Amino acid sequence: MHYVYPEVESKEDTKKKILKFKLTEKYQEVLVNILRLNQNSSQDCRIMMDYIFNNKLKKILELGVSQGYSTVPLLMVSKKLISVDNVNCYDNVMGLLKRWEIPELSLKWRFILMDDLELLFDRFDMIFLDTSHDYNHTIKELNKFSNFSDNIFCHDYNQNGVRWAVQDFLKDNDWQSTQFDTSCGLILINRRS
Ligand SMILES: C[S@@+](CC[C@H](N)C(=O)[O-])C[C@H]1O[C@@H](n2cnc3c(N)ncnc32)[C@H](O)[C@@H]1O
Repeated sequence: MHYVYPEVESKEDTKKKILKFKLTEKYQEVLVNILRLNQNSSQDCRIMMDYIFNNKLKKILELGVSQGYSTVPLLMVSKKLISVDNVNCYDNVMGLLKRWEIPELSLKWRFILMDDLELLFDRFDMIFLDTSHDYNHTIKELNKFSNFSDNIFCHDYNQNGVRWAVQDFLKDNDWQSTQFDTSCGLILINRRS
């Protein structure tokens, strides 16, 4: 499947589209602000939030945190979020949660400072992969993390390293894909059942 999205979404559109999550007014306001802060990935975050919400997914793994602009939206709709980065991003996320006065969200969040390829085995309902975007690293991640979950979103699919790694992974494995033409490119790959 292949979906095409407009380049930039208006604030009103974002507001309408997040109503379904039935968040409190405060959370809705924070979410709109965070999505606006990170315009390039705003639609990608919302697509993943929809997927978590519609499929009632609980345990999510995020690979690549940086400023926390994907972490906070994912936290809002998941029961448990584990985020991994090889740079310490803990204070970035905690800073956002404090700044927006929603520190309670940290209770369902865990940050692991580690190279993601070193992570020990665990099962997750969904994985968000957004790290180096380098072909050799991404193909290793896909081979490893396809054992952790049957649902993997890969960000920056418009970058060759990610695109080629995903395409090679799909050639060698019985997985299917759904592509979202957002500004950075997002692709969901699922194990065929
Ligand atoms: C593009 S940023 C993540 C952006 C974030 N997901 C968002 O949407 O705002 C990529 C992050 O991946 C991290 N990273 C790169 N290589 C990694 C690795 N091997 N293991 C864990 N994290 C890695 C970087 O430190 C950086 O913080």
